[in-house]
Amino acid sequence: MSVRALAAKVLNQVVEQGQSLSQALPPAQQDLSPKDKALLQLFCYGVLRTLPRLDFFCRSLMKKPLTGKQRVMHFLILVGFYQLLYTRIPSHAAVGETVNGTKALKKPALKGMVNGVLRSFLREQESLIAQADKQDALVYCHPSWLVKRLQAAYGTDLAAQIMNENNQQAPMWLRVNALHHNRDQYQALLSATELPSFVAQDAENSNALRLEKATDVYKLPGFEQGWVSVQDGAAQLAAHYLDTQAGELILDACAAPGGKTVHALELQPAIKEMVAVDADQKRLVRVQENLNRLQLSATVIHGDASQPDSWWSGELFDRILCDAPCSATGVIRRHPDIRWLRRDSDIAELVALQKRILNALWDKLKPGGILLYATCSVLPDENELQIKSFLQNRSDASLIALSSQYNSQAHGRQLLPNEDGMDGFYYAKLQKAL
Ligand SMILES: C[S@@+](CC[C@H](N)C(=O)[O-])C[C@H]1O[C@@H](n2cnc3c(N)ncnc32)[C@H](O)[C@@H]1O
Repeated sequence: MSVRALAAKVLNQVVEQGQSLSQALPPAQQDLSPKDKALLQLFCYGVLRTLPRLDFFCRSLMKKPLTGKQRVMHFLILVGFYQLLYTRIPSHAAVGETVNGTKALKKPALKGMVNGVLRSFLREQESLIAQADKQDALVYCHPSWLVKRLQAAYGTDLAAQIMNENNQQAPMWLRVNALHHNRDQYQALLSATELPSFVAQDAENSNALRLEKATDVYKLPGFEQGWVSVQDGAAQLAAHYLDTQAGELILDACAAPGGKTVHALELQPAIKEMVAVDADQKRLVRVQENLNRLQLSATVIHGDASQPDSWWSGELFDRILCDAPCSATGVIRRHPDIRWLRRDSDIAELVALQKRILNALWDKLKPGGILLYATCSVLPDENELQIKSFLQNRSDASLIALSSQYNSQAHGRQLLPNEDGMDGFYYAKLQKAL
């Protein structure tokens, strides 16, 4: 199967059928060589990062849009544009291979049309690019509802910077398993394998290393033995901020796939019990896989965090991590499909769900206990406004400092994409009155 044709199919599934890239891409990559796998990923990610711009070029060059069963050919053309604009693939090869994709997609009759559109693009690209550069939507490549929300929250310049970061490729971060090595020791192992890395800026983030260049996990020293895991630097802050202590009963309420559950256990294996709950049974399988690889244990429960009475054992928790379901607008650079799959109306629904979860979990926290609220969102409604409203409604809740070095937060800490190379994230640490 042609990689270009596979990319067109995956993009059609995501953009037209609303599937997530993490659902649609892995099955398409299954029988490919590592090189083709990487190429397919590059095309899918690249087209999703630049979708409205490439759509505009297509609209400008075609009399009628491709619809119905021919719609997949629209995405084949976009894959062609993407190669011509953003890769080093020579244009004759990019055009030739893309045109060949028509055969694999069983539309050989459209070969001439695809060839014609790509060749017209090569002739007219300069003027088309100049036209696109005059339109914000085609420069930022974000849906207008999200542009508006970001501009309202951060102002035009910072919003533009956030969107620009969202369009970059995210670095690969590693979490060194504190049960096996300290970060310096593992960094030395990486250097010996010729995998240069940088330490995180935040002193708190003491297990985090950012690789200079992404690599296959199996090339990482001791990956299979659990010496190291892949996890963004911002996500790693959760376990440090949670700061679990020996003997405590801990709840990770929205746990799957379990990155923060296992990090908390790596930092403090002598806890009484870690309860990992998630509403998605399939994703819970990954929690167990993570626990197995790292030889850690937790009580894994399929349950709804907004209705704890259906799964709660009856003992109040010392600490709760609430890594709430959210818009994921802080991780768009890792999931370029998010901006096209989310709708403006989702935000209010998510805010309401987060509120229900927060309130329900609060009742299961011991007096004096700690709840760490986290999202990978950059939208204030899900973050500081959510926490502000919680504090107004709960007289037994107070906001406490996330760490000694990060003390000045108004309503939690909002990280923006690419701060120290990390994802966009939000944290607020709450304590229940005694
Ligand atoms: C941001 S992800 C969690 C990531 C995870 N903490 C980690 O670090 O690997 C949010 C999770 O919330 C789960 N979720 C959504 N609604 C939920 C609910 N009502 N109760 C429990 N989990 C829920 C989703 O299935 C998803 O796995």
